[in-house]
Amino acid sequence: MSEGVTIALSKGKLLPPTLALFRQAGYSAYHVQDNDRRLILEYPEHGHRVLIVRPSDVPVYVEYGAADLGIVGKDVLLEQSPDVYEPVDLRLGICKLVVAKPNGQVPMQRLSSKLRVATKYPNVTERFFTQQGMPVELIKLYGSIELAPLVGLADRIVDLVETGKTLKANNLVEEEVIAWSSARLIVNRASLKMKHATITEVISRIKEQVTKGQSEKRPKKGRQR
Ligand code: PRP
Repeated sequence: MSEGVTIALSKGKLLPPTLALFRQAGYSAYHVQDNDRRLILEYPEHGHRVLIVRPSDVPVYVEYGAADLGIVGKDVLLEQSPDVYEPVDLRLGICKLVVAKPNGQVPMQRLSSKLRVATKYPNVTERFFTQQGMPVELIKLYGSIELAPLVGLADRIVDLVETGKTLKANNLVEEEVIAWSSARLIVNRASLKMKHATITEVISRIKEQVTKGQSEKRPKKGRQR
């Protein structure tokens, strides 16, 4: 059996496709029941231990070495800028980080006073508006961000958009795209040296599946008959 590695997976929307990807990559035992409350899952047949972690905590576990590897959205990495190695874009959980506003509200440059922006991503938001030369007042929230402009708490929000249904349902419209996001495999820098063989094997198996998935999605070349 190979040396043990600990992998922190993001719970929530990313968990089912992440587990499916690991199974396709040959880690067949990767299963979690819907009502499973365990936070540590042991897969001795693969030499893996899996931690089920809040997405925003995954970089912390990996940076501090409590996990050797992790799966987390690029949105979280942009916000936290952890000192980790980021070798694979899993092309799962694709979404965008946007500035959004109530439908019909004036564009940003025509507002005279400082904009109030509600977000779960204060660092990304501050960087974006600073680059625009536009000082803003940040309001940090932890969820249901779309509510803030509806009740006068904020003029704008910065949040993730996947299908666009939440914006539409709350009569909000996208104003600017700040960045695209997808799930990334991240690695603790010291672990990569200390557990090199096992970690490079995980990386290459996952990369292979991602490449396979991409080529299956691409339209076949050749003449149509
Ligand atoms: C996320 C995000 C948006 C929504 C976007 O929220 O913050 O609210 O999904 O998805 P859509 O474009 O497909 O509608 P999440 O469901 O994670 O809950 P939260 O608002 O409590 O963070």
